[in-house]
Amino acid sequence: MSTRLILFFALLSVTLAAHFKMPLKKSANLREKMIREGRYKQFLESRKAQELETGDQPLFDVYDEYYLAVIYLGSSEQQFDVALDTTSSNLWVLDVNCVSKGCKGVPMTGTLKNTYNSSKSVTYYSDGTSFSVPYKGGFVSGIMGTDQLLLGDFHWYEQDFGSATVVPEIYTQEPVDGILGLGFPAFAIPGTNTTMQRLMPMLDAPLITIWMELTDGTAKEFGYATYGMFDTKECSENILYVPLKDNNTWKFYVDAFQIGSYSRVKNEIALSATGSGWTGVPNVVLSGIVKQTKAVYDFTNGIYTVPCSTNQPDILLAINGVPYTIRSRNYVIDINLKNGQCALAFFGTTSQDPAWILGDAFVRSYCHVLDYGNARIGFAQARHDY
Ligand SMILES: *[C@@H]1O[C@H](CO)[C@@H](O)[C@H](O)[C@H]1NC(C)=O
Ligand SMILES: *[C@@H]1O[C@H](CO)[C@@H](O)[C@H](O)[C@H]1NC(C)=O
Ligand SMILES: *[C@@H]1O[C@H](CO)[C@@H](O)[C@H](O)[C@H]1NC(C)=O
Repeated sequence: MSTRLILFFALLSVTLAAHFKMPLKKSANLREKMIREGRYKQFLESRKAQELETGDQPLFDVYDEYYLAVIYLGSSEQQFDVALDTTSSNLWVLDVNCVSKGCKGVPMTGTLKNTYNSSKSVTYYSDGTSFSVPYKGGFVSGIMGTDQLLLGDFHWYEQDFGSATVVPEIYTQEPVDGILGLGFPAFAIPGTNTTMQRLMPMLDAPLITIWMELTDGTAKEFGYATYGMFDTKECSENILYVPLKDNNTWKFYVDAFQIGSYSRVKNEIALSATGSGWTGVPNVVLSGIVKQTKAVYDFTNGIYTVPCSTNQPDILLAINGVPYTIRSRNYVIDINLKNGQCALAFFGTTSQDPAWILGDAFVRSYCHVLDYGNARIGFAQARHDY
């Protein structure tokens, strides 16, 4: 082949490659962060006082951390750190005119939040339709509009999004500027096109691969989200797909669980929660894990702990008849308790739907492929150096 022809094909492959890989930034798990910094006990006490005052019980511990994607909205490319959320479908960001405390910044860290100012964008359009979506026991509400959006290597016009003028109190603790829903259009605000609906047709393949690294919780980059391609560099080629419970949520079934001599065989609904640092398991399973690992309850921090130095048994999770292994290094985490103890990264659930909330421990062990095109989720052994 002539050099010129080779060059032509090289250029062609560059211009036609419709996929991109972005580092996953992650907000720190707030609970872990506060324990590390020795201020969790104080926080719990102030929280308790506030609960007594307001009667409001925050869902603080369940989804207290996020994967963040950087997006740019509008003609002046206003920048936002938005949380990737598998449980909702629309995009929303904080509005410059938001008056809620949660829009102002994170008091404990002094982090200011980015807010969207539609006067700074000549491509903004809104007919004034309002929106209101549930979020952590409260509601996020504001105005729907459209504007241009830049995400990774892709840029498009007229993306529907909400700019929030009211957010719940709990949002005050969270260093994010909005939510990017990874859910299906079935759960979108009626009459809107979701970000994934717009993005997927532009990609080589309508899917996202998520690979996550094991870190000590202080690192800024935790892995990669690869849009439009299965990531064979970080994940084994041997990928198994699992049907979704109802084809329009990222839920599927767990059939069985085993740790040491404890096992449970039961078909239960699991949610892929790629932003949850801790793994939610039915309460009875949590008791089984505690027994098998001889964990003790740490009353100060409200968590179960085991000595960091001991190796705990593997966990086996059966999904669609296939066993998946989670090693203890992925579920025992060092959160700087300073007494040689590490945390068991599990919490108990009481709900049936979902009974399992499969967070980081599972994602670190197996790459996740969110396959929108075929409405299925794929798992492949994650490649790691350890
Ligand atoms: C929004 O942007 C406009 C144009 O730059 C500016 O005049 C206005 O003060 C901004 N609004 C707020 C609340 O900062
Ligand atoms: C959604 O996108 C489709 C295809 O681009 C378009 O025809 C439709 O009008 C859009 N719907 C809304 C509510 O913007
Ligand atoms: C999901 O979609 C697949 C393929 O289109 C179909 O075979 C399956 O029955 C659907 N499942 C549900 C619960 O609708």
